[in-house]
This record gives sequence, structure tokens and C-alpha cells, in this order.
Amino acid sequence: MWDQLRESLPLFPDAASTIAGEVDTLYFFLVATSLFFSGLIFVLIFYFMLKYRRRSEDEIPAEIEGSTVLEIAWSIVPFVIVMIMFGWGSWLYVKNGRSPANAMDMHVVGKQWMWKLQHPEGKREINELHVPIGRPVRLIMTSEDVIHSFFVPAFRIKQDVLPGRYTTVWFEATKLGEYHLFCAEYCGTEHSLMIGKVHVMTQADYERWLMSGEGESTTSAGERLFSELRCDTCHRPDGVGRGPVLDRVFGSQRLMRNGERVIADESYLRESILTPQQRVLTGYRPVMPTFQGQVNEEQVLELISYIKTLGGDSAGRAR
Ligand code: CUA
Repeated sequence: MWDQLRESLPLFPDAASTIAGEVDTLYFFLVATSLFFSGLIFVLIFYFMLKYRRRSEDEIPAEIEGSTVLEIAWSIVPFVIVMIMFGWGSWLYVKNGRSPANAMDMHVVGKQWMWKLQHPEGKREINELHVPIGRPVRLIMTSEDVIHSFFVPAFRIKQDVLPGRYTTVWFEATKLGEYHLFCAEYCGTEHSLMIGKVHVMTQADYERWLMSGEGESTTSAGERLFSELRCDTCHRPDGVGRGPVLDRVFGSQRLMRNGERVIADESYLRESILTPQQRVLTGYRPVMPTFQGQVNEEQVLELISYIKTLGGDSAGRAR
């Protein structure tokens, strides 16, 4: 039903993801409720205006004391309605907040004024994102400068992209085609030009597209960086290095020197690379130098995707 309604109304963007229908149903409910009560109030105003109009010059209306029943009714009814909106909205938000475990990770780096995207196989894109249909895609996003926001109306997803930390959002495309990508956070002079396209392709087309053009995978780029930056001199797999062994570190719980317990997710790994002194693992001395300025955000993401594969288990997930 909603599908036909949506297609007959050019006001709504394409619905091309698994969550679009649910989001729209909620949205229609909000709009319909607002229209219904706005209409009701208008009708009542005009009705009472006519009904209680002054009929003669010296007419004096009867005094009204108020009505407890009426007051309770107009408090309870709106309360119930907004609680439905709240409950429904938060249920949807929580339900769609977690990405499925089999999602493929893509890296997104926002920068004034462009989107830089990288596929797990290593292919890079600017302001364009090619994705296969029917597969959940998780975006791990950060910014090199100011706050941006990754917005694809057709997928009904919008997530702020912040400097200095990772945010994630996921979607599964359900319809082939091209869809708008916007930056939805004012980020400077050319904010309005920070736009792009998402191309939803069949799995076969996507694989063909991936094969065209060179590029090493994010994991092997990370591995190369790992040895170029000499990370391997301290983080030795045999455990005799000055730094902790990184096998199976991703997703594990780490005990810090200050007693704090931390899950080694993407954000923790990023922090450990850029500001290693911030939190030091128990049993180790704070000897690791910072790599701030030596690696950019894309390289940090490559290092992390390499570290995730160490120990052969990359099933752990952040968030
Ligand atoms: Cu980036 Cu607006």
C-alpha cells in the first residue's frame, strides 16, 4: 500500500533499502496525525465561531466554569499519541542501529569538500560509491577536518561524520539504480557541492566493476604500512617485542594500567595508533611513539583492517 502511495507522490525519494519502508510508515503516521489534528482544530474553530457568534448588540454570554473531564481528555490523548511516536521511533532506531554480522566494511573519509571511499578490496572512489544489491554494507566513517554528515535519502540513512573518531552506519540496497549522496551538515563554503552518487549494481556487475582498475586490498595496504612504519619491530607475533602481540586483539577485552577495561574496537585501535600514551595496556610501558601526522585517516583505516585479520579471526565487530 505504501509503495503505491509513495510512487504516486513525487514528494518522496526512491525507497531503495531494507529499512526504507519501515521508516516511511512511521513518517506517514507522523504526517497523518499532524494533518488530522490540524484539520480538526481548524474545523472546530470555524464551527464554534459561527455557533457562538454574537447575535445581538446587548447579548451577554453565560459564564463557563471549565470541565475536568475535558481537561483530562485533552491531556491524556496527546500523551498517548506522543508516547506511541516515541516508542515506535526508538524501537526502529534501536532495531536498525546494529549492523548485521555479515556486513561488508567500507571506509569513508569526509574532507572539505569531498567524500573519499574505499572498498575492502582496495578500490578507491571519490564522491561515488558502488555497492552490490542485497548485501549489507557497513560504513566506517571519519573526517579529516570538520563535521560532515553522510546522507543517502533513498536508503533513509543519515549519520554525522566526525573528526577524531569513528561513526558507523549500515544499509542494504534493494533496488538497482543511481541515488543521491549528500553532505547534510554545513561544513564550509562548498558544502553544497559535497555531493555524490551511490550506484547499486547486481553482484556480478559489482565484481566486474571491482576487477577493473588496479589497487591493493585495504588489508594488504595495511600490512605494507605495518612493516614500513616498523610496527613489526615492537609488535612481534612471538611475544618478545616491547609492544603487545596483536594476534586476535580486535574485539578482545583489554585491561589498561589504570584498571580500565576496554574493548579493542576500531576506535580503540585508532586511538592506540595516534595517541598511544592515552591508554596504556597493563604490563607494558608507555614507549610507543605517536603516529599522528605520519599516517592520514585512510592509512589508519588500512592499518586497522590489517590488524583485524591478525590471528585469522576477523569476526569480531565494533559497536
Ligand atoms: Cu561536508 Cu557539508
